[in-house]
Amino acid sequence: MRKKLAVANWKMNKTRTETQQFCQELRQALEQLHGTEVVICPPYTYLDLIAEQMGNTSVSWGGQNCFWEEQGAYTGEISPLMLRDLGCRYVIIGHSERRQVLGETDAVINRKMAAAFQAGLIPIICVGETLQERENNLAREVVKEQLVQDLHNLVPASHGLVIAYEPVWAIGTGVNASCDDAQQMIAFIREQLTNLYGEDRAASTPILYGGSVRPDNITEFMAEKDIDGALIGGASLDVNSFITIARSIANV
Ligand code: 13P
Repeated sequence: MRKKLAVANWKMNKTRTETQQFCQELRQALEQLHGTEVVICPPYTYLDLIAEQMGNTSVSWGGQNCFWEEQGAYTGEISPLMLRDLGCRYVIIGHSERRQVLGETDAVINRKMAAAFQAGLIPIICVGETLQERENNLAREVVKEQLVQDLHNLVPASHGLVIAYEPVWAIGTGVNASCDDAQQMIAFIREQLTNLYGEDRAASTPILYGGSVRPDNITEFMAEKDIDGALIGGASLDVNSFITIARSIANV
């Protein structure tokens, strides 16, 4: 049985006070969320606050990115070890905003994945096609190439790997993928994992859907057999909508 995950990616949002408020309200709802692992990925500057507020609960937290070296002269970067030091269990790697806005290549993402494994973090690696690639019937090819290159020469540590399928055109647009399209792509990703690591590992790796997930569409996604949870952007900023989504994931 694969674990189910509700992962909040706050991106570059919230203040310290808002973070504190969110944590207080989330703590009160945790009893309803037993069936899923809840993960919060705030900006780095609030990781300490999340650790303080959620430290003795079932909630995990993670970085939204990391560098590939442990330490050194890399102004502005943060290392996987530093994330571990803040109690992070997870790190998002290869988000499409980093690929597109910050120019991260698959080679860079591959190094970051290696560093995350090395530090004992569970990477949540994001893959997904652009609208143009989908319209040109290239979606599967693009996602396969991302997986092959991003995981090149890497054997996931036994503590795990999470994959998030996030079609770029569905992120922040309000236009989510259809459940059927998401299921088909996620089943395809599982096939690629089988080719890379064998059936057992593929069958036990959680694969999430991300892209305009909301309280009113999560249930349909969770009804699909290969979708193990969601990576949630905009709707994770509001604590009530995040709790509703996490509850739907927990109750499947
Ligand atoms: P939205 O949920 O805002 O579409 O963002 C998805 C995402 O990018 C999560 O990583």
